[in-house]
Amino acid sequence: MKVLSAVAWPYANGPRHIGHVAGFGVPSDVFSRYMRMAGHDVLMVSGTDEHGTPILVAADERGVTPMELADENNRIIVEDLVGLGLSYDLFTRTTTRNHYAVVQELFRAVHANGYMIEQTTHGAISPSTGRTLPDRYIEGTCPICGATDARGDQCDTCGNQLDPTDLIDPRSRINGETPQFVESQHFFLDLPALADALSAWLGEREATGTWRTNVIRFSRGLLKDMRPRAMTRDIDWGIPIPLEGWSEEPTKRLYVWFDAVIGYLSASIEWARRTGEPERWREWWNDPEAVSYYFQGKDNITFHSQIWPAELLGSMGRGDKGGEPSVFGELDLPTEVVASEFMTMEGRQFSSSRGVVIYVRDMLERYQPDALRYFISAAGPETQDSDFTWSEFVTRTNSELVAGWGNLVNRTAAMIAKNVGEIPPLGQTEPIDDEILAAVRDGFGTVGNLIERHRQRQALGEAMRLVGEVNAYVSRTEPFKLKGDDQRERLLTILHVLAQCVSDLNLMLSPFLPHASNRVDAVLGGDGTLTPMPRIEEVEDIDAGDLRLVGGEGMVPPVRSYPIITGEYSDFPRWESTPVRVGTPIAKPAGVFTKLDPELVDQELARMAGGSTDAS
Ligand code: MF3
Ligand code: ZN
Repeated sequence: MKVLSAVAWPYANGPRHIGHVAGFGVPSDVFSRYMRMAGHDVLMVSGTDEHGTPILVAADERGVTPMELADENNRIIVEDLVGLGLSYDLFTRTTTRNHYAVVQELFRAVHANGYMIEQTTHGAISPSTGRTLPDRYIEGTCPICGATDARGDQCDTCGNQLDPTDLIDPRSRINGETPQFVESQHFFLDLPALADALSAWLGEREATGTWRTNVIRFSRGLLKDMRPRAMTRDIDWGIPIPLEGWSEEPTKRLYVWFDAVIGYLSASIEWARRTGEPERWREWWNDPEAVSYYFQGKDNITFHSQIWPAELLGSMGRGDKGGEPSVFGELDLPTEVVASEFMTMEGRQFSSSRGVVIYVRDMLERYQPDALRYFISAAGPETQDSDFTWSEFVTRTNSELVAGWGNLVNRTAAMIAKNVGEIPPLGQTEPIDDEILAAVRDGFGTVGNLIERHRQRQALGEAMRLVGEVNAYVSRTEPFKLKGDDQRERLLTILHVLAQCVSDLNLMLSPFLPHASNRVDAVLGGDGTLTPMPRIEEVEDIDAGDLRLVGGEGMVPPVRSYPIITGEYSDFPRWESTPVRVGTPIAKPAGVFTKLDPELVDQELARMAGGSTDAS
């Protein structure tokens, strides 16, 4: 089966913190790794989202150009995501010529089919400076739920999209003044004309019963609010509008809703072009049998269960106004929007300015990547908001990773090294041996099924329960007490059973703990390359290909080089119990996981209390 793992595009306005990667990063990687092991053809794509106001504002603050700011943060984010072992086939950026061209082509198609309508809006400007005031820099009271801190683009309290003119008592978040609204022409996606098609798609999706309750409920709610949505903005940093009379317009650009989400398609095309088979992306997009999963935080559900499917439908002419498919053909709509809830830190919302934050970079410098991956998988915001605390991080690392799994690996290898020096043969088994071997073997079915249904917390819990069972097997069979010659065969059999269980559990845990699984593989006498890891490659930007790239001077990205994440993922091990090889040499093991000093809890809390960091 062709599986598209479409992973949310992180903003390049600053380095990412662990709340970000808990929502979209680790879950999408666990899923993609598992699906590859289960024999599917996965294409996992994403990139940095580099346009829009957040980047402009951060660049202004730092006194650099938006492109310079994006370059810097793109590199940091790429390094962090690779450090976490996230196995993207392609992680690129929105400032590539290919992305610009794909977005413009899709715009032309939606426009030609009649689903992009021109309307006059009231854009906000700052009365004192005369500069346009972007939506999210206007604050006011939400007309829907009454929250007093709603933004001009969205209310975070009720999650509804807003226009700045909807706000009651609007004010500028930059200087507090009341914005002035001036007339401006913009393009709106005609959601009402796509409502029936959208509702038919969502109804079909809902009938599968696989979507998370919160996500389907929220998505269904969106169908009740089908007003035309602005797809262009008064801003000078973004993709030019590919129409005569608009493309040279220096301060009108496509909005993020008609930019970053299209990255899933443009990145798939870029991936195919870079592999030398430029049409291959179609296998994941044009085949109705292909499936697609969109991973992100709950603040992005609107993008993926309303805006993006509507854009796809519009590009194919599948709304009330009819129309023709674009050059991209009949594109698949999302199979499932896999949105997570929010993560907080020590009971508070992440906030860089208040110092309530831990960046991925700092985490990776101080701790093992799999300790963070483990925490996120075991206690992350899968279907409920969750809280990251340093004390829970230490407890879970020490009692589950180190004392549970790490200890089982260690004692197994240590006993084999001391008593045999290689994996011994399996002699006559007893029921207790057969039972544990069967329990672990059956784990592939149970755990795999849970990952496939995006229940990763439960999946990891089940794998760790099996780790506990194997530890209990050691206590019950007491191999360390079997000393005499007459007990030798029994000892070897138990050690073989243990080697088999540890090897299988290592495969089963590898989607969650890829770094550790390669080290455990080495402990068990393998070459330490059990599971593939991503790498950074420095590449040249490619041109627009067969597509037409429009925009005035300085309005399209320069040809330059940048880092992408990619990898060679064709030899993932298979998701099944795999017999160990008798005779494989096993040496005295070095520990796989680092035990954490409980004192670090106070140190980290003090660091946080030390206040804000300079990153945004
Ligand atoms: N960069 C935006 C965010 O982080 C959007 C990410 S998902 C996208 O919220 F697909 F829309 F790009
Ligand atoms: Zn609201």
